[in-house]
Amino acid sequence: VRIYVPRDAAALALGADRVAKALSREAETRKLDITIVHNGSRGMHWLEPLVEVETAQGRIAYGPVKPSDVAALLDAGLLEGKAHPLCLGGTEEIPFLKNQTRLTFARCGVIDPVSLDDYKAHGGLKGLENAIAMAPADVVKQVTDSGLRGRGGAGFPTGIKWKTVLDAPGDRKYIVCNADEGDSGTFADRMIMEGDPFVLIEGMAIAGLATGATKGFVYIRSEYPQAIDAMNEAVTVARGAGVLGPSVLGSGKAFDMEIRVGAGAYVCGEETALLNSLEGKRGIVRAKPPLPALQGFMGRPTVVNNVISLASVPIIMDKGADFYRDFGMGRSRGTIPLQIAGNVKHGGLYETAFGLTLGEIIDVIGGGTATGRPVRAVQVGGPLGAYFPRALFDTPFDYEAFAAKDGLIGHAGITVFDDTVDMLKQARFAMEFCAVESCGKCTPCRIGSTRGVETADRIAQGIEPEKNRELLADLCNTMKFGSLCALGGFTPYPVLSAMNHFPEDFSPAPMVEAAE
Ligand code: NAI
Ligand code: SF4
Repeated sequence: VRIYVPRDAAALALGADRVAKALSREAETRKLDITIVHNGSRGMHWLEPLVEVETAQGRIAYGPVKPSDVAALLDAGLLEGKAHPLCLGGTEEIPFLKNQTRLTFARCGVIDPVSLDDYKAHGGLKGLENAIAMAPADVVKQVTDSGLRGRGGAGFPTGIKWKTVLDAPGDRKYIVCNADEGDSGTFADRMIMEGDPFVLIEGMAIAGLATGATKGFVYIRSEYPQAIDAMNEAVTVARGAGVLGPSVLGSGKAFDMEIRVGAGAYVCGEETALLNSLEGKRGIVRAKPPLPALQGFMGRPTVVNNVISLASVPIIMDKGADFYRDFGMGRSRGTIPLQIAGNVKHGGLYETAFGLTLGEIIDVIGGGTATGRPVRAVQVGGPLGAYFPRALFDTPFDYEAFAAKDGLIGHAGITVFDDTVDMLKQARFAMEFCAVESCGKCTPCRIGSTRGVETADRIAQGIEPEKNRELLADLCNTMKFGSLCALGGFTPYPVLSAMNHFPEDFSPAPMVEAAE
C-alpha cells in the first residue's frame, strides 16, 4: 500500500517526518506491507501533516495527523481508507482543492517529486518534446501568445523578455531562475521546487532551447534547505536521464543547469543584485539599462525569470498558447498560485484563473480569520504591497485592477489581518523592513526608510501629528519616484495605503499631544 507523507517544509515544520517515522515503526511491528512516498504538499496548510492512502477508490486523505494518531488510524483501517475522525474523504474532493484550476501545480502533492518516471506518467516532458520539434522563434511566439507574464511580481510579458534574449547577439546566453522568494507570506516557489522540481527544470530547458542559452542557474535562498535538496536531487536525475546535458532528450542541443544558494539578503531577489551575487560579488543593485536581457550574467544576454513563470511554460508548450490564454481576465491570462497567509482560517496555496475578487479569496476560500474576528486589512503582494480595506474587496485579482487602486498583486502573497491590527505599526514596519534590507546604493531608500521609521514614531507619540503625517507622505513620494529599485520604490505602497485607508490609526495619542 502506498502512503503519502509530504516532504514539504511546511508539513515538516508541523511534524510530517515524525508521522512518517511513526508509520514505519507501526508497520514494522504489525508486519504491514507499506511504501511511504514523500510527496510535496497539496497546499492546505491547516490540514498538514496531510497523510494520503492509495486505495481502490482513489487517494483518501487524513489530517492533520499527529504521530500519536498513527496507531489508532491503523486500527481503524487506514490502509483501506476507512472512516476515522481525521478522515477527510477523497483528497481531490476536498472543496479547497476541487475548486482550483491547477495547471502549474497539477502534479504538486500528487507525485513523488524526484521520480522522473512519476513525472512522465503525469504528463511531464511533453512540453519540452514539443519545443524540441519547433524553431526557437516559434517557441518564443507560443509563450508570447499564451499571455504569460512574470509571476515574480512585475508582470512583464515572458515571451517578450525571451525574444529580447533570442535576438541579442552573444557568444553565450544564460537562463537564471529567481528562487530568492523573499516576500513574507509567499511560498509558491518553494512549494513547486519541493513538490515538482522537474517542472522547473523542464521550463528552464525550454527557455534555453528557445533563446539559445546553454546554461541555467537556479538562485535559491538559503532559508529553503528542502527546496535546495529537492532541486539538486532532481537535476542529478534529469542529467542522468538525458533531460539535461550536451544533447537535451537527444535533440543535439545542449542545456545544463546548477543550483546556487543565496545568503539571505532580501534585495538579492532584485534581478540585478541577484546577478551580482551569482557572479560572486556583493548583492547590490545595478542601474538599468542595460537590461539583464541584453547584458546580464557575466555581461551576456540573460533571461531572469521567477520560478513560477518558468514552471508555467511546460503546460503552455504541452497544451498550446490558446489553452493557457483561455483562463484569466483582461491582460492577466492563465492562472496564478495565490498564497493565502496570516490570520486566516484556511491558509495555503490556491491556484486559480485571474479574476476572483479579493472578497471571494479572503471570505470564501480563506474562510475569514483564524481568530474568528472581522477581517480589517489585507496586504497583497508581500511586504511591499498595499493594504486593502474591506471597501476594496470587490477588486478582481488582476494586475491592472490592483494597479488602478494603488496596489499590486506582486508575487500573489495575501496576508490577512483582523480588527486588532494597528496600521500605524504596520506602516512603521514597512519602513523598518526597508531600512534593514536596503542595499544602500541610493539615498531615498537608504536614508528615507530610517527617517520614515522616526516619523512614524513621532506620529505614534503624538508629536506634531499633522505635520509628520504630511512629512511621511512627502517622504513616500520621494522614495517612490527617486529609488533605483522596487525595494525603496515600493515601500511607500504599504505606508501610503495604511495612511489613506486607515487614517484613524494615524491620529495622535491625546496624552502626549497635551504634554507638547
Ligand atoms: P521591472 O518592471 O523593472 O522589470 C520587470 C522585468 O522585465 C525585469 O526582468 C526587466 O529586466 C524586464 N524588462 C523590462 N523591460 C524589458 C524589455 N524591454 N525587454 C526585456 N526585458 C525587459 O520590475 P522589477 O524591479 O524587476 O520587479 C519589481 C517587482 O518585484 C515588484 O512588482 C514586486 O512585486 C516584485 N517583488 C517580488 C518579490 C518576490 O519575493 N517574488 C520580492 C520583492 C519584490
Ligand atoms: Fe538599494 Fe534601496 Fe536603492 Fe534598491 S532602492 S538600489 S535597495 S538603496
